[in-house]
Amino acid sequence: MVRFASRLDSIPPYLFGEISRLKAKAISEGADLIDFGIGDPDQPTPQPIIDKLAEAANDPATHRYDETDYGWPPFIEAVADWYAGRFGVQLDPAKGEVLGLIGSKEGLAHLAWAFIDPGDVSLVPEPGYTVYKVNTALAGGTPIAMPLLAENGFLPDLSAIPADVAKKAKLLYINYPNNPTAAVATPEFFAEVVAFAKEHDIIVCHDAAYSEVTYDGYRAPSFLQTPGAKAVGIEIHSLSKAFSMTGWRVGFAVGNADVLKGLNKLKSNVDSKQFPALMEAGAYALRNLEASPATLALYSRRRDIVIDGLNGMGWNMPKTKATLYVWAPVPPGYTSIEFAKTLLEKAGVLVVPGIGYGQYGEGYIRISLTVSGDRNGERVAEAFDRIRRNVQVRW
Ligand SMILES: Cc1ncc(COP(=O)(O)O)c(C=O)c1O
Repeated sequence: MVRFASRLDSIPPYLFGEISRLKAKAISEGADLIDFGIGDPDQPTPQPIIDKLAEAANDPATHRYDETDYGWPPFIEAVADWYAGRFGVQLDPAKGEVLGLIGSKEGLAHLAWAFIDPGDVSLVPEPGYTVYKVNTALAGGTPIAMPLLAENGFLPDLSAIPADVAKKAKLLYINYPNNPTAAVATPEFFAEVVAFAKEHDIIVCHDAAYSEVTYDGYRAPSFLQTPGAKAVGIEIHSLSKAFSMTGWRVGFAVGNADVLKGLNKLKSNVDSKQFPALMEAGAYALRNLEASPATLALYSRRRDIVIDGLNGMGWNMPKTKATLYVWAPVPPGYTSIEFAKTLLEKAGVLVVPGIGYGQYGEGYIRISLTVSGDRNGERVAEAFDRIRRNVQVRW
C-alpha cells in the first residue's frame, strides 16, 4: 500500500468531476465541443523567440547547471532593464532584487514554503488562482480568503479583515490584472495594500502574470510603482501569457531583497534553475519584443464577441480591460456547476464553474478567450449562436 504524506490531504477536492466526466463523454461521442475552459494561449510562441532558443541551445555554454546565485545573468539584467523601461521601476540585480523562476507558479508556490510556518496565516484572494491557497495549506499554514466582490470592483476590502487575522497574517497575495475576474487594480488600491502591509508587518506578493495582456490602450501598473512597495513585498512575473510561452517555464520575482533571499534559499535546495538557453530566449523576448499586437487583437475580438453575446441575452457586462477571461454571473436559478453543465449538454460549450475558484466564485462562470482552432472569432461566434438557440436564459 502506498501512503501519501498527510499534508496532501490539505489539497481541496477537485470540483469539476462531473463537468470533466461530461466533457469526456461528449468527446467520446464525437461532439464538436467549443472549449472555453483552459487559459492557455492558443497562438504559437513568436518565431524570433524560438530561433533564439535554437541558437542558444546550440551553444554548449548553456548545457550546464546555471551556477549563479539568482539566475542566468543576461536574463536577470534584461528583467531589470525591462522594469525600468516598462514601469520606470529601478531594480538592482547586484543587491538581489531580481530572481529567475521556473515559471511564475513555481515562485508563487515556493514563496509560501519559504515563509509560512504551521499556524501562520496567508491572506488570499477568492475567487483566485488556487496555488496561493493550496501551498499555504501544504506548508502547514492557514489560507484566509479575502472575498473579491463585484460591488468592490473585485478588489479585496482590506478594512474588512479582522484585526486578529491581520495580526497573524504573514503573507498577502494579490493578482492584477486578475484571474478569474479580469479586474484591474488602481494605484490607490496598491497604496492601501502598502499601508496595510506596513501596519501589520505582512509580506505582499503581487502576481502580475497578466500585466501585458491588456486591451483598448489600457496599460497595467506594477505594484512596485507604488511608493513604499519595495519595502513590503515582491512582484512575480511570467513570460507565459505575454509571449505565448506557457510550456517554456520562464518567470521571475522582483522587489524586496530580503524576501527574495528567503525564496532563493528554499529554491536552491529544491531546483537547479532553468535551462540557460531558455533564459537566453526569455532575455531576448524582454529586450526586443512586446506582447504580440496581432494576438492581443485576436483576444480582444473574442472578448467583444463573448461580451456582446452575453449582453444580447440579458447580461449587463462592461468590456474588460485585461486578461484572458470573462467572469460572468450565472442567470437566476442555477448554481455555477448547473449552468456550466447546461451549456455543455445543450450547446456543446465548455466553461469553468466559478465554485472551482473558491466559495466566493459561486454564482459565476469563467469563459477563457483562448479557444483552440478559432482563427478569427468564428468558433466563439458559433458558441454564442448555439447558446442563443439552445439555452433558455431568464432574468
Ligand atoms: C494568476 C496566475 N498566476 C500565475 C500563473 C502561472 O503562470 P506560469 O507558471 O506559466 O508563469 C497563472 C496561470 O494560469 C495564473 O493564472
